[in-house]
Amino acid sequence: MRFSITTAVALATTLVSALPQSAESVGNVTTLAAMIPAPPDAPTPPTTCPKLAPGPVSFKFLAENFPAPKPTDLYAIEAIRQTAALYALAIDGKAFEALRKVFVPKVRANYSDPIGVLNGVDAVIQALAPGLESFASTQHHLGTQYIHICSATTAVSVTYFQASHYFDPYTGIQNPVGPDRVLVDNAQYQDVWAKQADGTWKITNRNLVRMGPATLQGGFPTQPDMSAFVYGP
Ligand SMILES: *[C@@H]1O[C@H](CO)[C@@H](O)[C@H](O)[C@H]1NC(C)=O
Ligand SMILES: *[C@@H]1O[C@H](CO)[C@@H](O)[C@H](O)[C@H]1NC(C)=O
Repeated sequence: MRFSITTAVALATTLVSALPQSAESVGNVTTLAAMIPAPPDAPTPPTTCPKLAPGPVSFKFLAENFPAPKPTDLYAIEAIRQTAALYALAIDGKAFEALRKVFVPKVRANYSDPIGVLNGVDAVIQALAPGLESFASTQHHLGTQYIHICSATTAVSVTYFQASHYFDPYTGIQNPVGPDRVLVDNAQYQDVWAKQADGTWKITNRNLVRMGPATLQGGFPTQPDMSAFVYGP
């Protein structure tokens, strides 16, 4: 059936006539929630998975072997996207125990130069914490992201990131630091995911792959003279 204006009007009329009419039930969230139909079951996801583990694989492999996405399992894709975001929050928040929400206990994580391969989430926490603590703060900015659901319980993803590592603490917008005070790491995460018994998705295999040299240029703010700049009233 094509979704036409006529269909939309008919649907709206049906919904309005089904709305509770008594004054006390207007705005009743319980009543409203019961009327909203449950989302349809997600279709069965595809069962092919580009071989990303143990990896890493070349950038050429990624583009050649990742299928053009179809919106087959948007719930799983979004759960993975949010878990990747949680990783950045944990790292930049120096809340390293929260990495247990992101990695399975027996994760294999190749963090590349200078850290290397780490086995187990305990090793990840122990290895990452001291290096990150040595900076005043960090900002992991996740960018281009491809997520492919391979089966009901497996997925792969690639997530570009730019990580700014600040040598100095923030002391006000009128006190910018020079670009030589920010180390920017330009890289990507190649991750393999498994759905857990509790419904969450966690990383089982990770490779951090650099995409270019780290830079000490750029960084915010870069205005040479902010002394005349008045922030706020
Ligand atoms: C909302 O509707 C439900 C179901 O009809 C009813 O049990 C509940 O008492 C109502 N709540 C309010 C605040 O009117
Ligand atoms: C870890 O990743 C780096 C960067 O891609 C790669 O050069 C290296 O071979 C990997 N090491 C292992 C043991 O997989």
